[in-house]
Amino acid sequence: MKAIEIENVTYKYQDGTTALNELCLIIPMGAKVALLGPNGAGKSTLLHHLNGLKLPQSGDVKIMDLPLTKRNLKEIRKKVGLVFQDPDDQVFSSTVIEDVQFGPRNLGMTEEEIEDVSRASLGSVGMLEFKEKPPFHLSYGQKKRVAIAGILAMKPDIVVLDEPMSYLDPQGKDEIAALLQGLNIMGKTILLSTHDVDFAASWADMIILMKDGKILATGGPELLVKEECIREAKLHLPTIARLFRMLNVDPLPLNEQEAIRVLYRMMEDKEGVSEL
Ligand SMILES: Nc1ncnc2c1ncn2[C@@H]1O[C@H](COP(=O)(O)OP(=O)(O)O)[C@@H](O)[C@H]1O
Ligand SMILES: [Mg+2]
Repeated sequence: MKAIEIENVTYKYQDGTTALNELCLIIPMGAKVALLGPNGAGKSTLLHHLNGLKLPQSGDVKIMDLPLTKRNLKEIRKKVGLVFQDPDDQVFSSTVIEDVQFGPRNLGMTEEEIEDVSRASLGSVGMLEFKEKPPFHLSYGQKKRVAIAGILAMKPDIVVLDEPMSYLDPQGKDEIAALLQGLNIMGKTILLSTHDVDFAASWADMIILMKDGKILATGGPELLVKEECIREAKLHLPTIARLFRMLNVDPLPLNEQEAIRVLYRMMEDKEGVSEL
């Protein structure tokens, strides 16, 4: 079964802007996917199609084999949780815990389940101690975590996040990255949009490059060191790859682990040379 299957989806806004243009995409179950592309590429519009916040004007979206239609919306929203880019669009109850309980209550869970799942979700994002606070007293990063907890509380198989790292401090980013890693290990499919090529190179197992409402390329993280793809998607090489390009290393390492392997190899070669 595929997690997400999109066939020829086109979406035009009322002012005539074509945000998605005959877009096709397949995402397997269990993948960790980073969606990258310039501003206005259509990333948010695409993500909004995955839990039915927008319905395709033409073409088809299937979530775990279930077609996205008005009639299937409730089922689709059990399967896919969407974390908005701006937590102020998502977090609105008078206390943090009430906010996280909103989704599970809507899904008809029992009070006991709601209590368990909301505490566990807040714990997993490190926000349990804030449970009685009004969300509008929280910092942006804290609100973002509450928004993520609210989605996790609905136990989705697929978690979709629109630029989850934007405006977080470096440690906050690392914590969200670790949380997303843990969710993936538990079997969830994770799809997020990001401009952070370093994060994408070290975290994702699938990369999607998007521009002008279309997919430019999909593949493994090595896509992020293909210079023609990078240029077209208005990205830059990951920092580590930039450094090793100056040393004329080929293929370029993508992340710290790969860079360390290259460095060891270089050191071994150097020892060989000095023995001659
Ligand atoms: N509500 C809207 N009305 C008209 N055009 C919109 C609206 N929202 C987005 N767009 C346009 O649709 C295109 C895709 O936008 P979006 O999906 O937000 O891209 P991204 O998330 O990649 O920056 C852009 O050209 C944007 O200006
Ligand atoms: Mg966007």
